[in-house]
Amino acid sequence: MSWVDSIPMVTEKEKAVITKAIIPVAGLGTRFLPVTRTVPKALLPVLDKPLIQYAVEDAVEAGITDIAIIEDSRSVGSYFHSMPDLEEKLREGGRDDSADQMVEISDLARITSIKQIEPLGLGHAILLARNFIDDEPFVVILPDEILWGEFSATAQVLDVRDRYGGNVIAVTETSWDDVHTKGIVGGPNVEPTVIAIDQMVEKPPRDEAPSNLAIIGRYALGPDVFEHLSKLRQGAGGEIQLTDAIVDCMEHNNTYGVIVDSARYDAGVPEGMFGATLHQAATNPAMRQMIVDFAAEL
Ligand code: G1P
Repeated sequence: MSWVDSIPMVTEKEKAVITKAIIPVAGLGTRFLPVTRTVPKALLPVLDKPLIQYAVEDAVEAGITDIAIIEDSRSVGSYFHSMPDLEEKLREGGRDDSADQMVEISDLARITSIKQIEPLGLGHAILLARNFIDDEPFVVILPDEILWGEFSATAQVLDVRDRYGGNVIAVTETSWDDVHTKGIVGGPNVEPTVIAIDQMVEKPPRDEAPSNLAIIGRYALGPDVFEHLSKLRQGAGGEIQLTDAIVDCMEHNNTYGVIVDSARYDAGVPEGMFGATLHQAATNPAMRQMIVDFAAEL
């Protein structure tokens, strides 16, 4: 009998409201060279907002108030600083809407910037936020993964955590040709869209993948993951992997996958960025018409 045959009760500790998130952004962004020579990938725009803002909004909609951005020397965190001079100029020029938008950005959440000097992997980036998180459960958001739906993807993950406890990860079906590029999970369903994960592996070869359910960058985790991260050595791709630490947690914690009800774009690659841009553009009537006209011409 495996643990999934008798789903345990949610503990008091697991019922704690999650208010902190970690957003790692220090990747080199090689798929977006040459622009990423000087512009961090997280600041690349999807239409009129940068990737990092969509990630922060996803978190804020789920009740997150404090966010640590883990970044290299370039400053993504400063995007959220208040800019009183700019705001004043906009107001002087009668552009109150734009000025209000500037204020909204700096008021979204309390943002802390943590430097990741060496590119040692996602797990390493998360470990750098250990003091920021302290002994609380927390959320991790990977801004490359754009997830749009009626409810924020992070809120959907937190909903499953509220009901089942444990560590919870957003997943989606991916093409079998792509399983070697993602973390992959497997396990029986406890609801049509909730899986009790009993297998999890980072970037497996296709014939070793437990399923085609891919991890897509939203996690709700307990603080014990830090202890496991601190003991890890290099995993897949020579990097310290968050997936491996969550697997180590599985000895003591239940882990669930939730198939989120969201449109998904992998903005870590130009095609995904383009898809996300089209999605956003289609919400604006004038731009939607441009897409339709252009498609007709094609
Ligand atoms: C990371 C995670 C992986 C996940 C992916 C989602 O990989 O390690 O499990 O599937 O994000 O985009 P990365 O793309 O950073 O190599």
